[in-house]
Amino acid sequence: MEFCDLKVQYAAYKGEIDAAIQSVLASSAFINGPEVKALEGELAAFSGAAHVVACANGTDAIHAALLALGIKPGDEVIVPDFTFFATAEMVALTGAIPIFADIDPDSYNVTPASIERKITPRTKGVIPVSMFGRMPDLEGIGELARAKGIWVMEDGAQSFGAERGGRRSCSITQVATTSFFPVKPLGCYGDGGAIFTSDAGLAATLRSLVNHGSAKRYQHDAVGMNSRLDSIQAAVLRVKLRHFGDELKSRDRAAKMYTERLKGKVGKVAVPTAGEGGFSSWAQYTIRVADREKVQAHLQGRGIPTAVHYPIPMHAQKAFAHLGGRDADCPEASRAAREVISLPMHGMMTEDQIDGICRAVNEVI
Ligand SMILES: Cc1ncc(COP(=O)(O)O)c(C=O)c1O
Repeated sequence: MEFCDLKVQYAAYKGEIDAAIQSVLASSAFINGPEVKALEGELAAFSGAAHVVACANGTDAIHAALLALGIKPGDEVIVPDFTFFATAEMVALTGAIPIFADIDPDSYNVTPASIERKITPRTKGVIPVSMFGRMPDLEGIGELARAKGIWVMEDGAQSFGAERGGRRSCSITQVATTSFFPVKPLGCYGDGGAIFTSDAGLAATLRSLVNHGSAKRYQHDAVGMNSRLDSIQAAVLRVKLRHFGDELKSRDRAAKMYTERLKGKVGKVAVPTAGEGGFSSWAQYTIRVADREKVQAHLQGRGIPTAVHYPIPMHAQKAFAHLGGRDADCPEASRAAREVISLPMHGMMTEDQIDGICRAVNEVI
């Protein structure tokens, strides 16, 4: 069994994907060709954001968005203590200071209250991450941000396709980013990412930033990056986007099956939820258990792969040791890092597979 079975997905769309790749090869428009433009339009239509700028990966997407927002060395940006490293890493790369906010233990997301506790006169913005595919309270965070005069950037690397209050991930905040890393809910066959905004001026700045600060060939208005999306990746994504709605439903079905089979183990296994009125893209189906190593070893013995997203909170990363964070500052993030374990999840899981995985979890707990 694969943790995220991309082989079975490729087999299902092989004809369409092979044809799409062949057509890029025939056109030789490998970078920023018509496929990228068409993809950007389709991502805008799908997400509800007015402007989409494709780029090389989800990490660059955050970096470019921070630069476009005018972040400066010494500024403070609030990020979750519990996230993939890139969120905090890109803040630090600009010379700004990542300030770690604790998470809510059920949603794994930062909350308006946990953000508010970290706001200082130097705070310029906040990057709430839609962890595991579930969006945070972006309305509440937006209200807080407006009151405090700071910006909000959703890191939707794990949540493309998720919904909250009828609005899709990457369409709510001033600017938002996602990743098309192969195992993401919408993944390509290499690295890829995108930035979303409804602000036309910001979109123009972003478009230039990801292409050496240039809107016109060999004319450079600003210092930027080389972070363009390859046309082959765009072509793959366009095929997968056509099937994405069905895959999201299938992930949701898989999550419900997991939950039905695991939720009775109160106190032993904590199952995730999509939240009231929310739709998760289920990038991960992540449970909490008391003895993670034992559960992992047992599942491994049954041929079931698992993963830990993520074992070390940001404040405890060596790269951020100089910031002097302590477990007591973000107790829920620290506890989550000790307890979480992700079970296999992708858009083509069968009921038999989920039965087998849940049987193995139940055996060990
Ligand atoms: C929350 C989060 N932010 C950012 C990224 C970075 O995306 P990429 O790997 O495309 O650079 C990831 C990828 O794992 C992520 O999970």
